[in-house]
Amino acid sequence: MIKYERKARVFILGGKSFDYVMRVNAAGYLQFVYYGAKIDYSPSLTAAYADTLAPKPDDFNMNMALDCMPSEYGGFGRGDFRAPSAVVVQKDGFCASEFAYASHEIKDGAPALDGMPHVRRGGKTLSVTLKDKTSDAEITLNYTVFDDSDILVKNAVIKNAGADAFELRKAFSFCTELPDSAFDIMRLHGRWANERIPEATPIGHGTVRVESARGASSHQMNPFVALLRKGCSEELGECYGFNLIYSGSFAITAEAGQYGALRVQGGINDFGFSWRLRAGESFVTPQAALAYSAGGLGQMSREYADFFRNYVIDPKKAFAPRPIVVNNWEATYFDFDRDKLFAIIDEAAALGIDTFVLDDGWFGKRDDDLSGLGDWFVNDKKLRGGLKAVAAHCAQKGLTFGLWFEPEMISEDSDLFRAHPDYAIGKDGVTPCRSRNQLVLDFTRPDVVDYVFERVSAVLRSCDISYVKWDMNRNITEFFSRALPADRQGELAHRYILGVYGLAEKLTAAFPDVFFEGCAGGGGRFDGGMLYYFPQIWTSDDTDAFERAKIQWGTSTCYPASAMSCHVSACPNHQTQRITPLSTRGAVASLGAFGYELDLTKLTDGERDEVRAQIRDYKSISELVLRGDTYRLSNPFDGDYFCVALVSKDKTAAYVVGERVHGVPCDYNRTLKIRGLDPDKLYEVEELGVTASGRTLDGMGVLLPRLPDFGAWAWHITEKKK
Ligand code: GLA
Repeated sequence: MIKYERKARVFILGGKSFDYVMRVNAAGYLQFVYYGAKIDYSPSLTAAYADTLAPKPDDFNMNMALDCMPSEYGGFGRGDFRAPSAVVVQKDGFCASEFAYASHEIKDGAPALDGMPHVRRGGKTLSVTLKDKTSDAEITLNYTVFDDSDILVKNAVIKNAGADAFELRKAFSFCTELPDSAFDIMRLHGRWANERIPEATPIGHGTVRVESARGASSHQMNPFVALLRKGCSEELGECYGFNLIYSGSFAITAEAGQYGALRVQGGINDFGFSWRLRAGESFVTPQAALAYSAGGLGQMSREYADFFRNYVIDPKKAFAPRPIVVNNWEATYFDFDRDKLFAIIDEAAALGIDTFVLDDGWFGKRDDDLSGLGDWFVNDKKLRGGLKAVAAHCAQKGLTFGLWFEPEMISEDSDLFRAHPDYAIGKDGVTPCRSRNQLVLDFTRPDVVDYVFERVSAVLRSCDISYVKWDMNRNITEFFSRALPADRQGELAHRYILGVYGLAEKLTAAFPDVFFEGCAGGGGRFDGGMLYYFPQIWTSDDTDAFERAKIQWGTSTCYPASAMSCHVSACPNHQTQRITPLSTRGAVASLGAFGYELDLTKLTDGERDEVRAQIRDYKSISELVLRGDTYRLSNPFDGDYFCVALVSKDKTAAYVVGERVHGVPCDYNRTLKIRGLDPDKLYEVEELGVTASGRTLDGMGVLLPRLPDFGAWAWHITEKKK
């Protein structure tokens, strides 16, 4: 719902259970008024409330008042001393900006962003155009709302409406100003094999900045923050989410101003960023998905999950049953030949696995990570009969075949690098920083992207490949393109990610039946931007059942369960050396897109039976992973148990997985409240032999099983007709 009160010049945007109010004030600025639970619009209250913070049009010192006006897009150098939302540097170097309302329009649908991920359908959009009083910049702020969602999508488009080029030094996607800063700010930080760990701290005065300057959204910091009202818990209290639909270097800042209001804004990281905009050109910023929840963090997470599944992920793939895969990486690493792979495929077929995914090492000279990236030609010497033979063997055994690529990378020891050293990002004369012994291809260059498209396409056409794992194993250094002029080097990081999006767009369009999984050294690029192209992402290289439970817990804060690719791997775990039961590894992995990452030929008979049962069980609950709601029941970061429930939308079925993460003696009578069920429905908890209403299962809870460390349970709950 979007309403415009013409006389008062007030915009009211409403989602399922929130309202967002702005107005054009008497001085002509677009002023934030309200964001929160639904309200009844009161013209007199809005005016009284907003007038106190608005500059007076006839005030000689008017512009100084901009410093306390809640702004929808902050300017610079005209009296607002907080961080601006954009910086426009004109021909003569002048860079002050003052954004004032010019016009607006309201349309059905959501704006499609050319070459960038965006909301695919639905909603209503308000576009407000602001004119910079001191330059030729025109900023259009887009706001998309949906009747069935508590997500508000924002972005900004900056146009050069003048005759001279200017340079953007900052171009954030959104700015929102909450009237107070009494929040904790939660971010999802991490590192390789330990991604998306929730951490909340008080905001305090000054600026909290959550960012990545690595050329990828990163393992270290997800492009997401949540503001939690004091006391906000999983199921109670107010919180706001800010999630960038973007995969490159980003920043989100929360700045508590001198009067206590909080400016939250974000977008492409402005550190090292510049963008030259010639006359008539526009710069489109990524979309940001804001969420409002009055039902705690859990409700916010469910809103994000629905939003990504319904509006961002390819609708043909979002709810499509996911193949259960076996991936050979941890089974063989680089050391495989056709016989080894065939043995795994044979075993996979016997166990009921759907897809065999051949990971790194099948192409060029690639027996370790020192060489070969960029040479996307099958190594027939290593793999007798090539990919065709593997694909044919899969088909013969009733499996489909998937293949690993790392399209954005190049090894110095590769034919591609020998032919085109300039294809790599870097500067002649400066020894490049290597990471995993490899360099990054210059995806700002269309010829490089085209080359990779041709090569990957040729491989995908060469035999029956129905699944691609798209990896990306290092971040950018020496931010320099040999193809860009000096005054455009600041564009590299964003242009790079546009190149990645361009390739993903072309490949997914050219191979619509191929299922793409994203990956970046595990979860180094797990974001809404990637989900637009790849419906699931390899959550982390850490598959240890204890660590993984925490990683999946954190990831579920703002992404759907179906987006998390989760595999059962061998023990001792290759990352942590921890030994956990196969049943626990299976239970934890079953909370996402399920598969195996181990040498199936080494399973004992007992383990084979268990794996067969896991696959059968997973197929019976996979709809809950695809379509269900996630309820986080017990937090492994501050308790002895991890527990998550997936509940069907119609509340007739639920799947509850838990893990004892830290055993202590004499912990009798510990209970677990099962939330998310219909209070009035009667349920049966199959494994416990319990029949109780949803109200009772939540109110009274069930007794937690007393298990040794890393013991797990999986309960199937179904409605029992009265
Ligand atoms: C990354 C991925 C792994 C695997 C290896 C192969 O680390 O996250 O799953 O594909 O690369 O080199």
